[in-house]
Amino acid sequence: MGQMILQPRALQSIRKLRLSVTDRCNLRCRYCMAADRPPTLDRSELLSLEEMAHIARVLCRHLPIQSIKLTGGEPLVRHGLSDLVAELAAIPGSPEISMTTNGTLLRRFAADLKRNGLTRVNVSLDSLDAMRFADVTRGGNLAATLDGINAALENELRPVKLNAVLRRSSWQQDVPQLLLFAGALGLEIRFIELMRTGTERVWCDSEFVSAAEIQTWLTRQGARISLETHSTGSACLSSVHGEGISVRVGWITPRSHPFCASCDRIRMNARGHIFRCLMDGERIPIAELIRTTDETSALIATDQYLSSKKSPAAMVRADSMASIGG
Ligand code: 5AD
Ligand code: SF4
Repeated sequence: MGQMILQPRALQSIRKLRLSVTDRCNLRCRYCMAADRPPTLDRSELLSLEEMAHIARVLCRHLPIQSIKLTGGEPLVRHGLSDLVAELAAIPGSPEISMTTNGTLLRRFAADLKRNGLTRVNVSLDSLDAMRFADVTRGGNLAATLDGINAALENELRPVKLNAVLRRSSWQQDVPQLLLFAGALGLEIRFIELMRTGTERVWCDSEFVSAAEIQTWLTRQGARISLETHSTGSACLSSVHGEGISVRVGWITPRSHPFCASCDRIRMNARGHIFRCLMDGERIPIAELIRTTDETSALIATDQYLSSKKSPAAMVRADSMASIGG
């Protein structure tokens, strides 16, 4: 049963697996969730971390998965996460294991995570101004996130990549500061266009700014942006040079230049549903299928589900990103 290697086409295009381990978070970023959003999943609905590891093993056995990214909510609020990292790192074929985190708990866990096989982290950091940071995260403490970034660097969770969501009202301050900060510490940055989620529709629309507008502005300020020719996945990679620094910057442009055609990822939420797209509400209950049928049938059903994937009509998500991971 488990030995049969499946070759269905849609499954064979998947290189990246995102595992959302919880929809809970200790911050409430405005672009991600409503201020009063309760966790949508009851604890009893969450897969155990053992079952998640089992499903990841099944998927890695049959799909050409090269990397697994842990997301949330905030993955580090889930107890035992380092043990999951160890299980995933031991999967034959050694997929790269990384994590997207808000950084606030990294000081506590970075050493354990590194020891258990985590290779690197993306840390959400939208502003280096304590007030603006607190505003966008609805009360987050900038110092805690910065300390988490230092912990990641000290523990060689490299490259550390910053995720910064671009906002109309503050990018002129935030973008240059983040570039200087990243240049000084040797971090990479992902500048991400704001996607509209159900919770803050008006805010998301008024705060949207395209990556192109920022690139034009940076160039006018004297920066040099050299685009890399072989950009992969969802980021258009570049190096930004100026003021004595050079920073590797990925531009993530879901709204101005959708990258759906080259999408090679699937996402699983904390209840064990697979999503073929962030913007698509349709899903397949892989955990239940594996529990109640057999691996082969579960994977054939997943292949059919992936085969009927369409590019979304608009980059709009009805509910919070935290429910399936950003
Ligand atoms: N638009 C763009 N990026 C988002 N993220 C979450 N919600 C949004 C959104 N509406 C991304 C952030 C964060 C990661 C977890 O998900 O970059 O760092
Ligand atoms: Fe939490 Fe990340 Fe969502 Fe911010 S973006 S509320 S840190 S899950």
